[in-house]
Amino acid sequence: MYWQELYQQKLTAADQAVRQIKSGDRVVVAHATGEPTVLIDEMVKNASQYENVEMIHMVAMGAAEYCKPEFSKNFHHNSLFVGNSTRQAVAEGRAEFTPVFFSEIPQWLRTELWPDVALIHVSPPDEHGYCSFGISVDYTKPAAECAKTVIAQVNPQMPRTLGDSFISVEDIDYIVEADAPLIELAPPKLTEVEMAIGRNCASLVRDGDTLQLGIGAIPDAVLMCLKDKKDLGIHSEMFSDGVVDLVEAGVITNRRKNVNPGKSVAAFLMGTRRLYDYVDNNPAVAMYPVDYVNDPRVICRNDNLVSINSCVQVDLMGQVVSSSVGLKQISGVGGQVDFVRGANMSRGGRTIMAMPSTAAHGKFSKIIPFLDKGAAVTTSRNDVDYVVTEYGIAQLRWKTLRDRAKALIGIAHPDFRPRLLQEFETRFR
Ligand code: COA
Repeated sequence: MYWQELYQQKLTAADQAVRQIKSGDRVVVAHATGEPTVLIDEMVKNASQYENVEMIHMVAMGAAEYCKPEFSKNFHHNSLFVGNSTRQAVAEGRAEFTPVFFSEIPQWLRTELWPDVALIHVSPPDEHGYCSFGISVDYTKPAAECAKTVIAQVNPQMPRTLGDSFISVEDIDYIVEADAPLIELAPPKLTEVEMAIGRNCASLVRDGDTLQLGIGAIPDAVLMCLKDKKDLGIHSEMFSDGVVDLVEAGVITNRRKNVNPGKSVAAFLMGTRRLYDYVDNNPAVAMYPVDYVNDPRVICRNDNLVSINSCVQVDLMGQVVSSSVGLKQISGVGGQVDFVRGANMSRGGRTIMAMPSTAAHGKFSKIIPFLDKGAAVTTSRNDVDYVVTEYGIAQLRWKTLRDRAKALIGIAHPDFRPRLLQEFETRFR
């Protein structure tokens, strides 16, 4: 049968499609800005028909209404990376958090989770009957490959990204056509502190490096400070609009990459329509599942891989906390450790943890003598390399505990240095 006939047979109204979800089912939702908002809205609208549906999602960029207290009997959220719309539910115990490396989510899905339903969001099929996962390939494609039932929102606004990013109409069970705007993430407004951090990070980047950039203001600031570099490459779990500026300026060419030369590689994308239009049908961009992009063994095959991520606290030994403030879960490990490991193994590779020197409008130092009670170490002191603040750069890898402490105090906010020096004197006198 031609795929066109299959497509017609599988066409379903949104309310009918979400009826395929049964009470007690385990549902995996396409990641981040790739969330199939029409399906999620329809599911929440029909909440009374479900009991105890487990919603597995990483960064929820939508409203995540299934986390609201009034739906606590209908849905139970299992978060792999807490975000704005899910933080309160996790803090109040209405939702769970599971620590997991981003690179290992596909393996976990295939060997243990076996989802009942994957809610995916794809482009319309091409002439061969293949839809693209567009801006969220990461764990979404692996989830669709192992879920018992695949329900797809097919959206002409989803770009057709290339790479290992396709699903055949044959492998989708229910198709819901919905022409709806994708979730967008506007570029952040950058402060002088973030720009200073960006300049410090940029000073560690050399012509020909391949970059991984995390999410948020600091990666954006770094990108803005790279305009005088040459032949940079991208191998990153995600990227945003800032990369398009550098491609257009001729700075990102991907020419010197060892793996996927000529292509910016990512597992998901978060940005504005400008980014989504840039990646549409663009052979210079390759999207892959996260067990490829974030596999440290793949990452390290690029020489001069520079990983730039952010964190919440660093103690004087160089232990990095990135996803919790004390016991409070504020995000997740994401791909931080995947890339730290990959960059450390890359020939000429470098790992950068970049953060403002203080938090909460200067109330707390992010460089601290001891970790907060309950804080979870994200990047260990054995893996940490460069730590950067607006006050400078501390290089920690293969340094003694005494030298690390000294270097970190040198980039702390001056208001907090006396207390840190006091601790230094006690420890290393
Ligand atoms: N003490 C007390 N509170 C702190 C703090 C500290 N040391 N550091 C941060 N906070 C608070 C902030 O004040 C803020 O609170 P608010 O939301 O009430 O204003 C909150 O924690 C989030 O901090 P912020 O600095 O605004 O976060 P961010 O958006 O810049 O993201 C990370 C920074 C570290 C949370 C984020 O980069 C992350 O989750 N990293 C780990 C995952 C990762 O690196 N993935 C790889 C790439 S995607």
